[in-house]
Amino acid sequence: MNSRTPSTRDSLPALSIALGLAVGVFILDAMTPLGMAPQMLYAVVLLVSVWTYNRRIVKLLAWLCTALTAAGLIFASGTQYETAIFNRVVSLSLIWLTAVLALLYMRSEERLRQVNLNLEQLVSERTAALIQAVEQRERLGRDLHDDILQLLYAAGLNLKAAVPPVTRCPPDVAGQIRHTMGELELAMQRLREYIAGPRIPAGGEPPVGVALANLVQNMAVSDRPRFSLNLQPGLSAVSLPRAQTEHVMHIVREALSNCARHSRATQGLVTVQRDNGVLQIEINDDGIGFDPDDARRDGHGLANMSARVEEMGGILSIASSPGQGTRIMVRVPCAEEVRP
Ligand SMILES: Nc1ncnc2c1ncn2[C@@H]1O[C@H](COP(=O)(O)OP(=O)(O)OP(=O)(O)O)[C@@H](O)[C@H]1O
Ligand SMILES: [Mg+2]
Repeated sequence: MNSRTPSTRDSLPALSIALGLAVGVFILDAMTPLGMAPQMLYAVVLLVSVWTYNRRIVKLLAWLCTALTAAGLIFASGTQYETAIFNRVVSLSLIWLTAVLALLYMRSEERLRQVNLNLEQLVSERTAALIQAVEQRERLGRDLHDDILQLLYAAGLNLKAAVPPVTRCPPDVAGQIRHTMGELELAMQRLREYIAGPRIPAGGEPPVGVALANLVQNMAVSDRPRFSLNLQPGLSAVSLPRAQTEHVMHIVREALSNCARHSRATQGLVTVQRDNGVLQIEINDDGIGFDPDDARRDGHGLANMSARVEEMGGILSIASSPGQGTRIMVRVPCAEEVRP
């Protein structure tokens, strides 16, 4: 649908036809004996005038047709004046009825055109915003690749260069270095995946229990805090939609990372269970605790956690106070698919 506002130029063809028709009807009327009613054809003039897209022109033409209807009475021949006057009153009613209908039609068409214009504007604004978001993501991807990824490569190379002395160092230190190199490789892989954009993995999503077990194992780098996973039986066969699995993994990773970095805990326990279509994930530690209301200002981790839970339509609660350890509880709707 073309929602361009019609110009005066667009009015000209219809106006010429309407005026030509008006003159034709007038000549016909003047040549027809009184008592006959060819002036009713002026209604056609008004119908044609709709395509001038100009309500003022329609009104002017209605007045012109009124004047010509009256003038026709003088020019037409014959003697049936009463019948002629009656016919012309009926014709004038028809002319004005047509004019009013034409004006109403034009007004609703104008409104439609305006609605369409607004819609087109909205669509173009949204498209521009989308393009901007895509461009920003591409820029971010480039920066991540050229900056952070290169720093991680360099850190990995430095660690690799340290390998010969590692053979002489205690096995637990060598193990830690190997583990750190593995983590670095994982971080680089994640970054590359992010830069490449979302893709569905070839074998489908791994079950949430398996993914969480891998995560907890990967994050358990030292004895303090010792991380463990308590998974409800059967959950290791449950697959969630990709976006939900990603949210859950990021939340648990952040909670464990906070536990390792801030809590001075000896234990960090992740408990996962599903009940009545709700997935419940709890991360407990026996560390120094903190005041959640104060802490939200310090970093991004807790805020991201809360945004992810909100996006899944779930509930996040953090129970912690200084000296009392920390309990993070996430409850999210779980429209899971159970694999045999
Ligand atoms: N398990 C925990 N035990 C003790 N303190 C915690 C724990 N989790 C979070 N905190 C406190 O809450 C603060 C905010 O955590 P948040 O994850 O939002 O930010 P961060 O870890 O400091 O930085 P970022 O996550 O952005 O790298 C932390 O700085 C810490 O003081
Ligand atoms: Mg954090």
